[in-house]
Amino acid sequence: MKNILVTGGAGFIGSTFVRRAIARHPDYKIVVLDKLTYAGNLDNLLPVKDAPQYAFERGDIADRATVRRVLETHEIDAIVNFAAESHVDRSVLDPHAFINTNSVGVYTLLDTARELGVQRFHQVSTDEVYGSIDEGHFREGDPLEPNSPYSASKASGDLMARAYYVTYGMHTTVTRGSNTFGPYQYPEKVIPFFVTEALDDRPLPLYGDGMQVRDWLYVDDHSDAIDTVLHKGAPGEIFNVGGESERHNIDVTRFLLQTLGKPESLIRYVEDRPGHDRRYALTNDKIRAELGWEPAHSFEDAMTETVRWYQQNDWWWRKIKTGEYLEYYKRQYAARLAETEK
Ligand code: NAD
Ligand code: TYD
Repeated sequence: MKNILVTGGAGFIGSTFVRRAIARHPDYKIVVLDKLTYAGNLDNLLPVKDAPQYAFERGDIADRATVRRVLETHEIDAIVNFAAESHVDRSVLDPHAFINTNSVGVYTLLDTARELGVQRFHQVSTDEVYGSIDEGHFREGDPLEPNSPYSASKASGDLMARAYYVTYGMHTTVTRGSNTFGPYQYPEKVIPFFVTEALDDRPLPLYGDGMQVRDWLYVDDHSDAIDTVLHKGAPGEIFNVGGESERHNIDVTRFLLQTLGKPESLIRYVEDRPGHDRRYALTNDKIRAELGWEPAHSFEDAMTETVRWYQQNDWWWRKIKTGEYLEYYKRQYAARLAETEK
């Protein structure tokens, strides 16, 4: 591999991967293809924008002509696909874009790669494709029972990657990561949303009883796991990537407030997300045993660092929390929060 196409590289995890790949693999050319949706942000790539081995292309992974042009122009050998509509709540409000990017987009990337003989394709997926689990941990061979339009559209991407391995012999791999947090995360996801709202002493809308469980994975660890699978994963293989840090939402919220020195009175219990998955949990047994990867950061240290980053980088998030963001905030939260005032 020499020339790597990172789709969705202007987003949260993709840009972390790009920044780390440029530092770690100076012999690779890293090309980002990103549509720059509301979640895509060139500020995330500022640290690498002048690196000689970096290039940026704006475009849609579901547009075959664009994908073909980029693959040919940059003589791409491998694709790592981060591009996605990634927020569950938005998929509940309007699933359309999720199908276009997460299903049609993955198919378009795979099929154009097949046409041009690009063998290597890594699909960045999510633990949410398994659905919810009350006890125990999901393994890679477990059935897929996605519950939201987001997770159903992501599952279709996983299955298409599998089909291109089995049918056409392409070297496809898949990682299923758990809830990821860290710097540069769009402030609709719960961690940056709650931290930035709390910094401004605004209410934190906690869904339902706040007793849902997520497994938290630091973004540098997630990025390094993807790099490991890209280099060492056998064709057709799927790897779970868990943070080994399960927490109830209420406990995460309290931890954030404590770290910020803000009062728990900011918490508002609001109407639940429809179809809200109760618990996500994965085992890392396979990636640990076969590839020697394990999370390197503790939840408490990485979360504290993350909170500090948002405290120190309000230049990054204040300009996001305007315009379309405020429209979305109103749709998602205005009625829910108004209920708590009654
Ligand atoms: P994000 O929303 O921050 O970034 C997504 C990026 O994809 C943005 O830059 C956006 O502009 C781009 N994009 C969207 N549609 C596109 C299209 N049609 N063509 C080209 N670019 C497009 O997402 P993220 O949190 O960084 O997630 C990255 C990947 O990791 C996604 O595939 C997501 O499903 C997966 N994942 C995320 C998490 C998490 O907790 N954030 C956990 C597990 C897996
Ligand atoms: P989120 O960051 O949206 O990730 P996901 O839905 O992919 O797990 O949400 C994480 C958890 O936090 C999830 O259980 C939903 C909950 N949550 C809230 O309670 N309030 C909120 O405003 C948001 C965005 C999420």
